[in-house]
Amino acid sequence: MLKNKNILVGVTGGIAAYKAVDVVSRLKKMNANVDVIMTKNAKNFVGPTTFQSISQNYVSIDMFEEPKSWDIEHIALADKADMVLVAPATGNIIGKIANGIADDMLTTVIMATRAKVVFAPAMNSHMYANPIVQENIEKLKGLNYEFIEPGTGMLACGYLGKGRMAEPADIVQYILDSLNKKTLINKKIIVTAGPTIEPLDPVRYMTNYSSGKMGYAIAEEASNRGGDVVLVTGPTNLQPPSNVKVVNINTTMEMLKAVEEYFNDSDVLIKAAAPLDYKPEKFSKEKIKKKTGEDDILEIKYIRNPDIAASFGKKKENQIMVGFAAETENVEKHAREKLEKKNFDFIVANDVSKEDAGFRTDTNIVTIIDNKGCSEEYPLMSKEKLSKVILDKVEKLIEAR
Ligand code: PMT
Repeated sequence: MLKNKNILVGVTGGIAAYKAVDVVSRLKKMNANVDVIMTKNAKNFVGPTTFQSISQNYVSIDMFEEPKSWDIEHIALADKADMVLVAPATGNIIGKIANGIADDMLTTVIMATRAKVVFAPAMNSHMYANPIVQENIEKLKGLNYEFIEPGTGMLACGYLGKGRMAEPADIVQYILDSLNKKTLINKKIIVTAGPTIEPLDPVRYMTNYSSGKMGYAIAEEASNRGGDVVLVTGPTNLQPPSNVKVVNINTTMEMLKAVEEYFNDSDVLIKAAAPLDYKPEKFSKEKIKKKTGEDDILEIKYIRNPDIAASFGKKKENQIMVGFAAETENVEKHAREKLEKKNFDFIVANDVSKEDAGFRTDTNIVTIIDNKGCSEEYPLMSKEKLSKVILDKVEKLIEAR
């Protein structure tokens, strides 16, 4: 249920740290990948070895310890997380985050992450009721940090009152509901993916290096969010996500026709495919034969294919259109031209000259530019993670309409 989800659990110094062990164990049972960061004070309650054994990942505590791999430095942990859960969250950590303090591994990661951060407070009831703590909580809520309300009951300090950390089962349920939110229910989403191919003769064709990974990841995420997804795909070696309608095409013209069939009724069109702009002018019914002699040069004349995105960009009414730009130089400049020419709401520009970005890779490095001129650069991230970023933006546009 949490397959492919990266959850970062921050454990701070409170007696409820022992309950965080149960939280991590439950998350692991749901197939989440769990990383744990402990504060120095948390170590006084539970040892890192316990979290390490249960999470099966190295537990970070100190900012400046020798990293076990470059993957576990604070920025990598911050980027990797789909959600950060702080459990138990003491009044101290809440105060630090509310006031922009980043003086250890956990606070630094929280400052650096773009993922949702959820606190499960646990403290003495008088501390919890303290107006400064309450003010910090309200401030953080206003900044889109989330809180799982503590319960009322007998606290470890002997007091009876509000401040008991929520039960592990409830915390895990909160994470499940939050990560599997059905935010695109009743939304009709067309995603194009993969290359197109243009035949030259019965045994040869032109194509490009698109694997379909980017488009398939978007289709899967849109479907996980409850969207009604049509995946128009060129030939790939990928297993299409379940619960999406798959339309297989070969040529750019076929992709145009497939999108046309669903476009009028759609809410969103995401063009992650790499359709060929040109095709051979003539298809030779017979296999083109090798000639002999020194002037054996095969000349092929190519003609333009339709620009699918541009044609729907002209027709669009309420649809949100997202484009991609695969560029090797002047990335932002070329992407802005395409954004305007094709009437996209926003465009995802990948610099395909970079290693780990663009065609065939599992990761991407992009700049997203919107039709108001704003651009935002994103670090290296998996195509799954990028799909979430893209769909979060789509959801915001839908909400604004
Ligand atoms: O499939 P992967 O291996 O995961 O690789 C992902 C990707 C690199 C293919 C993807 O991230 C990407 O950048 N897709 C767009 C590639 C492309 O064709 O870029 P372009 O700059 O030529 O086209 C700009 C936009 O117009 C794209 O949204 C494209 O889908 C669309 N287009 C292009 C040509 C055409 N004839 N019709 C179109 O609609």
